[in-house]
Amino acid sequence: MFQKIRYQLLLSNLIVLTIILTAFAITVRITFAYSINQQLIDRLNTLARAAATGIDIEDGEVETDDDEVIAGQNQGVQWFDVEGELLAQQGEYPLTLPLDINQSLQKQTSPYPAQGLTTPVNDDASGKFVGYVRVSESLTEVQSITRRLDLGLGGGVLVALVLSGFGGIWLTRQAMQPIEENFQRLQQFTSDASHELRSPLMAIKTNAAVALKYSEGIRSKDVEKFQMIGSAANQMTWLTERLLILARTDKVTQPDWEPINLSSILSKLVLFYKPYALQKKIDFTSQIAGNLYLRGDKVLLIQLFTNLIKNAIYYTPSRGMVEITAKIAGSNLIIKVQDNGIGIAPEYLEKIFERFWRAEKSRSYKAKKFGLGLAIAQTIAQKHDGLITVNSQLGKGSCFTTRLPGLEKLKNQSIAGNREQTGNREYRNK
Ligand SMILES: Nc1ncnc2c1ncn2[C@@H]1O[C@H](COP(=O)(O)OP(=O)(O)O)[C@@H](O)[C@H]1O
Ligand SMILES: [Mg+2]
Repeated sequence: MFQKIRYQLLLSNLIVLTIILTAFAITVRITFAYSINQQLIDRLNTLARAAATGIDIEDGEVETDDDEVIAGQNQGVQWFDVEGELLAQQGEYPLTLPLDINQSLQKQTSPYPAQGLTTPVNDDASGKFVGYVRVSESLTEVQSITRRLDLGLGGGVLVALVLSGFGGIWLTRQAMQPIEENFQRLQQFTSDASHELRSPLMAIKTNAAVALKYSEGIRSKDVEKFQMIGSAANQMTWLTERLLILARTDKVTQPDWEPINLSSILSKLVLFYKPYALQKKIDFTSQIAGNLYLRGDKVLLIQLFTNLIKNAIYYTPSRGMVEITAKIAGSNLIIKVQDNGIGIAPEYLEKIFERFWRAEKSRSYKAKKFGLGLAIAQTIAQKHDGLITVNSQLGKGSCFTTRLPGLEKLKNQSIAGNREQTGNREYRNK
């Protein structure tokens, strides 16, 4: 149980951190790309200004002041006449795209990636429009810088996640330790208290029984009181036994579990509870595959299915039906206990597995209804790495599905004492 909580804590911690770090990396990346792009545009503007001043475009010729080279490394400069005809160019990286006078910014990806900027040129002296100048710069370097940034950010995020994963393991262990210890103490207390209550309860029960056995000297009113004392002591014994089961199941460890024939357990339970169902005129049927094996604790598994079957019979009115089906699905054993009884309201479906929870709020002590049956069943299922789920409709009935990991390999091997009873045939109990 605590292992699962630890993993969940760690996972949610990592998910939150991943979201934060990714958002951080994306923001850095966008800001960086924006500023590097802005710097490029600034450089191109300066270059364009230099290329447009001190030149003459006349009769298809470009004349610069002193024929100086203004295009720097990685750059290109092109001059066009008013019709967009290329007149001259400089530098290693002029754009190869045709001039588009409607777009001041042009970008190309091949034969080399480059960013271009076009501005109109006016004659210095007369101010007359004489053509265009288009300047450009190769994007190779910018792209390699951003690629390195991407790698750095990605790697940084990854390293941070791995480190925080390790940190998280340590932190969750630290945080869970006191909770685990407290839980164990509470378990121990429940177990000890239930155990210690046994003897005084037994004393009360025996004394009440003895008093009732020799009741001649007792007033008839007092006989009733003794009967009540006896019955209350019985119920308390029953309750403390359940609490003890819960506390012990919580502590159960798995390593020494034996392979168990669940088919046999289930069919015996069906036989055992059939008379109870018959008393209520309930049609109690079963369909149990004969090859259901798992590693587990026999006593606990009997308790689990007893609780489900007793509930189904108890919460189904007279002339209803209860059906048990058990089969293998993949590597799991699926056991369904279905009834067409009173059902459970949707808002209660989450609650029914809680300890001491009952739909009917008054605990029915006479019927030994304390709201512990399903809590015990679920704890047992979880101890076997399984789970009980419920499907129910108010007034229509309920279906409790128990999923337990099966022992596939053993299904054809002999398990002493069980084989003869089950074979591989299917139990049908109509
Ligand atoms: N088969 C069922 N049909 C309808 N309600 C059920 C069924 N099984 C359990 N419940 C509901 O879940 C509650 C908890 O069940 P359980 O833990 O066995 O306690 P208890 O039977 O002692 O009340 C019951 O009080 C009942 O309201
Ligand atoms: Mg019950």
